[in-house]
Amino acid sequence: MEVGEISSEPGPSTQTNTKPAGKSSNLPWIEKYRPQKFEEIVGNEDTIKKLSVFSKQGNLPNIIIAGPPGVGKTTTILCLARILLGSSFKDAVLELNASSDRGIDVVRNKVKMFAQQKVTLPPGRHKIIILDEVDSMTDGAQQALRRTMEIYSNTTRFALACNYSEKVIDPIQSRCAVLRYSKLSDAQVLARVIQICQKENVNYTEDGLEAIVFTAQGDMRQALNNLQSTHNGFGVVNSENVFKVCDEPHPLLIKDMLKNCIDGDIRKAFKIIDHLWTLGYAAEDIVKNIFKVCKNMDMEEPLKLAFIKEIGTTHEIISDGLTTLLQMSGLLSRMCMAAKGMKK
Ligand SMILES: Nc1ncnc2c1ncn2[C@@H]1O[C@H](COP(=O)(O)OP(=O)(O)OP(=O)(O)O)[C@@H](O)[C@H]1O
Ligand SMILES: [Mg+2]
Repeated sequence: MEVGEISSEPGPSTQTNTKPAGKSSNLPWIEKYRPQKFEEIVGNEDTIKKLSVFSKQGNLPNIIIAGPPGVGKTTTILCLARILLGSSFKDAVLELNASSDRGIDVVRNKVKMFAQQKVTLPPGRHKIIILDEVDSMTDGAQQALRRTMEIYSNTTRFALACNYSEKVIDPIQSRCAVLRYSKLSDAQVLARVIQICQKENVNYTEDGLEAIVFTAQGDMRQALNNLQSTHNGFGVVNSENVFKVCDEPHPLLIKDMLKNCIDGDIRKAFKIIDHLWTLGYAAEDIVKNIFKVCKNMDMEEPLKLAFIKEIGTTHEIISDGLTTLLQMSGLLSRMCMAAKGMKK
């Protein structure tokens, strides 16, 4: 947080977003295929529609976009700024993200200085200060923003993005329109992944793409990263390779294990978890995967709920530090008992 480190140059701090790629083949696909227009952004249609209205009219309110990682928050804000400011993007946008120093001094100096600067813009347009990952800003720095946001409201707008809106202090939330993004659906991720596979000539199988979607759980960034890693590492994107790259327990094994629990066969179920344990998977990874598989499993609803409750309990215990095989087998036995209880 030393003041000496602050560079006073305005303009976006990340270069990747503003410059078209020179040698695009070297770019990671998440950047190469980062949407440049609203129409390319997948999902959260209602919010994006609202924003595209603002982008046409020009009178943008201060906004916060909150939501899980990898669903397009940063992308949306960059698109918005690009549409609103066009060629003035460089001079009229200040981007600060968690990688920049964003303590109270930066807000007092850099943000204020930028807000005071004169930039000629078309009527109805404002300078935009992008504060990405704002939930990582200290409370003090957020407090320092309060008055700044008001004083410069005739020339400057703030666009904030965060994962947890509750970490943004209330007075800031009250000055902004809060837009919430949700995880993308499996179908939305799949559609985009197929598109990119075709553009990149990826050799894939259907179960490979299913595996990509499964491992991503609604996070587009993760889906694209896993796709590229599998493609680069193994050539063919099939489920086996995907799970090798992601280093996750294979869901088919977990599925078998859950089936054994439904049948009340603790011995067989334990064999599988013991196998995963010897492979070296962490308790947290295993339990997370059991949940992911159980969520989509074709089974009776009441039993599924009972299973999920047990999985949740075990996850809590594991988070508290009890990461032993005993806890995992305890989970299996409770699931077997739940299944037996339902059958009676
Ligand atoms: N809705 C989407 N449509 C198309 N591509 C997407 C979408 N969301 C994410 N991506 C892809 O994932 C990459 C990362 O997205 P982005 O930086 O917008 O995530 P984010 O929501 O800001 O995540 P974080 O909370 O981690 O900052 C983008 O470059 C793009 O390739
Ligand atoms: Mg982001």
